[in-house]
Amino acid sequence: MQGVTVVDHPLVQHKLTLMRDRERSTKGFRELMHEIGMLLCYEVTRDLPLELTEIETPLTPMQAPVLAGKKLVFAPILRAGVGFLDGMLTLVPSARVAHVGLYRDPKTLVAVEYYFKAPEDVADRLVLVLDPMLATANSAIAAVDRLKEAGAKNIRIVCLLAAPEGIEKFRGSHPDVHIWTAAIDDHLNEHGYIIPGLGDAGDRMFGTK
Ligand code: PRP
Ligand code: URA
Repeated sequence: MQGVTVVDHPLVQHKLTLMRDRERSTKGFRELMHEIGMLLCYEVTRDLPLELTEIETPLTPMQAPVLAGKKLVFAPILRAGVGFLDGMLTLVPSARVAHVGLYRDPKTLVAVEYYFKAPEDVADRLVLVLDPMLATANSAIAAVDRLKEAGAKNIRIVCLLAAPEGIEKFRGSHPDVHIWTAAIDDHLNEHGYIIPGLGDAGDRMFGTK
């Protein structure tokens, strides 16, 4: 599908299956989200530009590669996106963090903003929007709208599950923003839940239901 990369690495697929299982504990679900966050971060940063810098090994000077320019902003959509954050910060400890507080109105499925704070230099960085679920895409579209308003120019979406309907809608609003996901599921049900899905990601991660 255009504009979408499915991360089909066997470790990601195995861990995703464990997360989908309704019997998975809150603790297990959270740990798996952390682990998959690291694996997805590895994939989504695969093409980051490098530049050469002069260093000296114990034996000789050399030109060695380092990441070029200003680097990353992780932008978790609260609450569930927070589940990816620690794993990704473990891999990229110098990244900045933008918090995007949104909830989906359960009746209208419209995304309602309640918090937003992004680094001042967001325009100079690659922004990775983190949210395990892209369902109707209302939340992802609202988050990207808000980040663009704040100046972000280079944005990618990282999720676990995406619905075909959500991908299509998101691509219609933000064709410049590529999506990385561990799976594209079958469809949305009448309540806007991804089928087969994994249920309510925030509730499963924080044990609120
Ligand atoms: C969930 C999920 C996404 C959103 C996806 O959040 O974490 O943010 O729904 O649905 P959409 O693509 O139809 O917008 P929710 O609104 O339940 O908030 P929570 O993370 O605080 O539980
Ligand atoms: N949000 C979730 O947490 N799960 C879904 O299936 C859809 C939206």
